[in-house]
Amino acid sequence: MCGIVGILGTEPVARGIVEALKRLEYRGYDSAGVATIESEGHVERVRAPGKLHNLEDKLKASALKGTTGIGHTRWATHGVPNEPNAHPHVSGDVVIVHNGIIENFKPLKDELLKEGVVFSSQTDTEVVAHLIARERAKGVPPKEAVAKVLKRLEGAFALAVIFASEHDLMVGARMGAPLAVGHGDGQMYLGSDAIALAPFTNRVTYLEDGDWVALTRNSIEIRDGEGRQIVRPMNFTQASAFMADKGKHRHFMAKEIAEQPEVIGHTLAEYADFAEKAARLPSEVKIDFANLDRLTITACGTAYLAGLTAKYWFERYARLPTEVDIASEFRYREAPMPKKGAAIVISQSGETADTLAALRYCKAQDQDTLALVNVPGSTIAREAHAAIRTYAGPEIGVASTKAFTCQLTVLAALAVAAGKARGAISRDQERELIGALTEAPRHMAEILKDEKHIAEVAREIAHAQDVLYLGRGVNYPIALEGALKLKEISYIHAEGYAAGELKHGPIALIDENVPVIVIAPQDDLFDKTVSNMEEVAARGGKIVLLTDDGGIEAHGQRTFRRIRVPKAHAFLSPLLYALPVQLLAYHAAVFMGTDVDQPRNLAKSVTVE
Ligand code: G6P
Repeated sequence: MCGIVGILGTEPVARGIVEALKRLEYRGYDSAGVATIESEGHVERVRAPGKLHNLEDKLKASALKGTTGIGHTRWATHGVPNEPNAHPHVSGDVVIVHNGIIENFKPLKDELLKEGVVFSSQTDTEVVAHLIARERAKGVPPKEAVAKVLKRLEGAFALAVIFASEHDLMVGARMGAPLAVGHGDGQMYLGSDAIALAPFTNRVTYLEDGDWVALTRNSIEIRDGEGRQIVRPMNFTQASAFMADKGKHRHFMAKEIAEQPEVIGHTLAEYADFAEKAARLPSEVKIDFANLDRLTITACGTAYLAGLTAKYWFERYARLPTEVDIASEFRYREAPMPKKGAAIVISQSGETADTLAALRYCKAQDQDTLALVNVPGSTIAREAHAAIRTYAGPEIGVASTKAFTCQLTVLAALAVAAGKARGAISRDQERELIGALTEAPRHMAEILKDEKHIAEVAREIAHAQDVLYLGRGVNYPIALEGALKLKEISYIHAEGYAAGELKHGPIALIDENVPVIVIAPQDDLFDKTVSNMEEVAARGGKIVLLTDDGGIEAHGQRTFRRIRVPKAHAFLSPLLYALPVQLLAYHAAVFMGTDVDQPRNLAKSVTVE
């Protein structure tokens, strides 16, 4: 998936396009490009492989003056990340940028090849450019040419198209990938999200699936999939025009890790009554927990691991059967869903394609749906029956950190509220759990003080080829998260395992070169986890034990390294143990010299299947 932007402006637009693309780089950074209409019939295009700064450098040498233009930041799907495959793509007078995948591009391409069309890239996008150009060559006017071609496209995509001969026209289309129209004064914009448009306007209209839009500087015409002219509402967004900066930190990820005590505090303030020590849910939450037969949670990546953690909480504290699945699996599983069922989808960005599809499936199955997002106004937030948010603030580092712990915080409060509603916990237990939760920021701040020591341990594991993470119960998802974080930013192979499952396979990997990170607070499962740790020690594995004072005293002696986590209520442990595993991954990556905030091949928001 990619980020797209288009501007019908009054001044040269190239700089503004790059400004918007910076805000969309979270969607991909394999290449970037800009095209502007420099004079009637003449388009200039500048493209560069790699990060956006490469395009910025190139643009310095080519002063684009056009006031109509489109731009793109790419996450490669079809074709390697080189310059010929970088967008915009051009055919005849058609200039196009595209986010998503044209699934039937192969037969369409074959059709064009038979007609002698010559392709200059390996992308699916170029097919669309040629198809529209073919209609134009037959004399079909620009808007109609796009509308005609849209009918032939399958897949999930968003498009922005300009025409070399049409200085005052930009056409956009949305099918399964987000696209927003920004309203200026005598200027118009298209962008993959409202954040991209924030430097220009806060007046935004979101297109719906199947819609296409024709913009001029002073008009907007939206048509639905049937070709009927329609009106979509204009919203005032709160997306900030200011870009987040790194402050005194070397990377966004470091800043975002450090912000956790604060943002968890903000999030807690919305979901807990500190004086009463009670869970407090926003009025948007309409789920009737008392009468639910089953809760379904679905999400991707780190958000999925927040859901997996919540399963332990909902089942234990609310006695609520909870099913959790990765959205890309769930959406095609045709899972039967109960009459009295509710579904929670979790997504930092609120745009992840698989999570959105899973949400739609749950709605079609008559589930009461609740979205938990960090970006209000995102597609998932808009489509769910109700949406609530985390208060993590913008998360820029591709590897999710503060969004994850904020998700955990909200889910913990929801689980307590559900437990109370179902009579599974008493008022006293609610007080105990929420009281414990309010201690999280303080404990987190203490963990962060130990960063230097954790960085030393990270340097030692950075030499390994494989790293294992073990956890039990509610800390099993944290083992998975630790392994995910390490592999995504340091490129060291890592696996998370349920500690008890070790003996059924991964124990074969253990030798003196394999660090094994054991997440083991001194809770009711501690002794079991320690037995698994002994199995590792007996085979020479290097144990890095993450535990509290009691755990270190009891079993710290024969371990390779120890990381101390403050003693806290067991309910809290996933929230706290998330921090040292983030720091281990971060410092291992810094040591390895990788691009921590924008690791290779990844993107922050994945809007393709
Ligand atoms: C990408 C990101 C992950 C994130 C996942 C889900 O893979 O790299 O950090 O957890 O998408 O994203 P979402 O925005 O839905 O939480």
